[in-house]
Amino acid sequence: MKHILDLDDFSIEEVNLIVKTAFEIKKKPEKFSDSMKGKILATIFFEPSTRTQFSFQTAMYKLGGHTIGFSNSLNSSVSKGENFKDTVKVVSSYADILVIRHFLEGSSFAASLFSSCPVFNAGDGAHLHPTQTITDVFTILEKKKELNNLKIGICGDLKFGRAVNSLIKFLIRYEKITFYLISNENFKLSESLKEKILNSGNSFKEASSLEDVIEKLDVLYMTRIQKERFKDKGNVEKDLILLNEKVLKYAKEDLIVLHPLPRTDEISIKVDEDKRAKYFTQALNGVFVRMALILETFKLNNINKKEYFEEKLNLSCHNETCITKYERYLPKLYKKQGENILCGYCDNVIK
Ligand code: CP
Repeated sequence: MKHILDLDDFSIEEVNLIVKTAFEIKKKPEKFSDSMKGKILATIFFEPSTRTQFSFQTAMYKLGGHTIGFSNSLNSSVSKGENFKDTVKVVSSYADILVIRHFLEGSSFAASLFSSCPVFNAGDGAHLHPTQTITDVFTILEKKKELNNLKIGICGDLKFGRAVNSLIKFLIRYEKITFYLISNENFKLSESLKEKILNSGNSFKEASSLEDVIEKLDVLYMTRIQKERFKDKGNVEKDLILLNEKVLKYAKEDLIVLHPLPRTDEISIKVDEDKRAKYFTQALNGVFVRMALILETFKLNNINKKEYFEEKLNLSCHNETCITKYERYLPKLYKKQGENILCGYCDNVIK
């Protein structure tokens, strides 16, 4: 069974296969209209979503399958106190694929321990959003043809954005990428991810203004400030870095502007009319990519590479938004990374 939890579990060849299938589907979607006949995809969303939820549902309908699920756990027996494990066990026994979004980090991995069908991570807290990353990669390849040698600006909330975290973690497998990390002090990329960029042989430069770097970029990935992920919201508007028509004037003619969406105020509406704005195409591409993921997941039969171990270390994860803090029955699982011991669920360094 192949879960889609973290793209680190996938080889480049496997991701290429998914992307290739997505291109075939985009060209001729009707060719695949019966591929999932009789199959059921369940979406259990503990956090709001427009694109991920509806694109998964649309993908399954376009493949001839059916969907079940909830978009608000308060409308399920979670509201009566049912635990996460039981919800996953029961829903996965009704379905062929379980798509889960949750506000807690490590929740999809926890679901994979109890699910009787493949689990797709549709976003777990500030941790990962792998199906968004494949959508982003598909859109970059569609417009730029390759991933090596690009100058990629990533702008906004680099601290709490799971789409950013996932995308950088995947792109560092390629070569000669320069990341321009554009954010204010409060929303900078984690030191551990910066270290991973350097260890991969790629490079980064940091900036606090789009005007300073936009002329250099091939791709600009905008993000919103993830207000729902921190307590002291204060005046976050002061941290907003705005892309508007004036700033875009300095950019290359063949720049592509992406955004996982939803947008708040970080891209002016007028930018939508610029031919470089590709974020709505990116959202549409999410349907073709998720159709490909549904199709290919049954062909990818190697087990997940996430190598965790269970030991009586008596260590707990310090991350307050890790699923282990709330679902206390979960087995204590750890991973090793060099000298460090990481939480097996949310990848937080615990020792
Ligand atoms: N990009 C993304 O995850 O959007 P939704 O939150 O609307 O699913």
